[in-house]
Amino acid sequence: MNGPLVFAHRGSSALLPEHTLAAYLRAIEEGADGVECDVRLTRDGHLVCVHDRRLDRTSNGTGRVSARTLAELDELDFGSWHTAALSDDRVTDIPADPSRTRLLTLDRLLDALHDAGRPVRLLIETKHPSRRGATVERTLVATLRAWGLLDPAPDHPVQVTVMSFSPLAVRRMRELAPGLPTALLLEMLPPGLRVGRLPFGARIAGPGIGLVRARPQLVPKLRAAGNRVFVWTVNEPDDLDLVIGHGVDGIITDRPALVLQRLGR
Ligand code: G3P
Ligand code: CA
Repeated sequence: MNGPLVFAHRGSSALLPEHTLAAYLRAIEEGADGVECDVRLTRDGHLVCVHDRRLDRTSNGTGRVSARTLAELDELDFGSWHTAALSDDRVTDIPADPSRTRLLTLDRLLDALHDAGRPVRLLIETKHPSRRGATVERTLVATLRAWGLLDPAPDHPVQVTVMSFSPLAVRRMRELAPGLPTALLLEMLPPGLRVGRLPFGARIAGPGIGLVRARPQLVPKLRAAGNRVFVWTVNEPDDLDLVIGHGVDGIITDRPALVLQRLGR
């Protein structure tokens, strides 16, 4: 395939509540090459797909995700907040089936991707890795090992890349699972930094669209240094034109259908 890979950020999250099975199934239906999800640990050590540290924005619960057990989180509704915040172009027919808007565990997401009927890539972002030592990374590696995803054959339908803003997390992944591709996310560049090969074996750079706009030479330099470049979160037509013009390798977007249409796919 020519052109960038298209990744649905938190699922097809402009249309459906982020990080729910409904949003991921929609992204698969829309033809996204892959999906992105953030993972956090519950109090009893399960990896769940939630962006914020707290539950308040995206569920009817309150408090920290890490303070609750999986069983407690399973009682919550992760869909209704989105209907309340609905804007014109969002889907109004959120599935009545509550299993599609309950908490999504990483295992449930992996199960859905294996059932997709076609290859789907998965970008997993670890959040705040240093708070509990390397527990997130160790649990993630154990989960991926159980699914046979640490070093899968090239034709395996699910291929995983682990991403983080934290070089420490990237280094831990490198140590725990040397064969697993990693990406270093970049929100800003430290002044004076020379753009070159990424640290700790990361082969993918993940700059935010704000950084790409502010630093027009960044993507060409990252690519010239041998890195692949996946840009997040690209939702607006002008930004799409910018990153397509740069020849990026991946576009992470809340609106996969719009991006695929723009790419003529
Ligand atoms: O894909 C990278 C992007 O998700 C990073 O930002 O805050 O959406 O997790 P955030
Ligand atoms: Ca993320």
